[in-house]
Amino acid sequence: MEINKHNTVEKDELTGDKLLTGHEYDNIRELDNNLPKWWVWLFIITIVWSVAYIFVFDVIKVAPYQQEEWKNEMAAAGVTSPGQPAAIDPASLVVLTDQPSLDAGKEIWVKQCKVCHLEGGQGLVGPNLTDNFSIHGCAYSDVVNIIVVGAPEKGMISWKAQLSDDQIKKVASFVMTLKGTTPPNPKAPQGEPCK
Ligand code: HEC
Repeated sequence: MEINKHNTVEKDELTGDKLLTGHEYDNIRELDNNLPKWWVWLFIITIVWSVAYIFVFDVIKVAPYQQEEWKNEMAAAGVTSPGQPAAIDPASLVVLTDQPSLDAGKEIWVKQCKVCHLEGGQGLVGPNLTDNFSIHGCAYSDVVNIIVVGAPEKGMISWKAQLSDDQIKKVASFVMTLKGTTPPNPKAPQGEPCK
């Protein structure tokens, strides 16, 4: 390839594309290609978009940011402490005593809860649920609530994602039947005595 001394446009011999002058390393030269039109337009659109975005969200503030949107939706759904799963409507909480509900509750218990609380509720990783002591409250609504929110830092997840409200009510009702039973090897009481 000839070095250009006459300030004319140099072309690549092979492709005929324009060469960039002043760049030559180890005999390798760059082509002086324009950016593709679609790329340039995309770039211009991003700039227009960002100006519109700043205008809408920060100048005239006609649209809420995502975080605000989330808070609004949580408030609309009646979640009082965002970040926690929605509680079950307390008005709908009446302990279930019919046998089919308790049987369904026991089935869930054996499948999901037994590993940590043992079948009789005498406690293993989780506390003893048969004694008259409780960490999170003794009432049916307290039991429902702890199943809904869990105690993740102590090892019990929130069951809200895995169990329906209906299933939670049933398993909580089953838990209420454990109180006062005397399974073997009960775990020592934890928490406060129930009134
Ligand atoms: C991975 C182990 C684990 C599983 C599975 C588990 N729990 Fe727990 N559970 C715990 C632990 C640990 C605690 C104690 C939390 C604390 O100390 O705050 C607890 C606490 C509780 C309490 C409150 C006890 C109190 O003294 O206030 C109830 C009620 C309860 N679990 C019910 C259930 C039910 C119902 C299920 C099944 C849907 C279940 N648990 C599954 C570990 C588990």
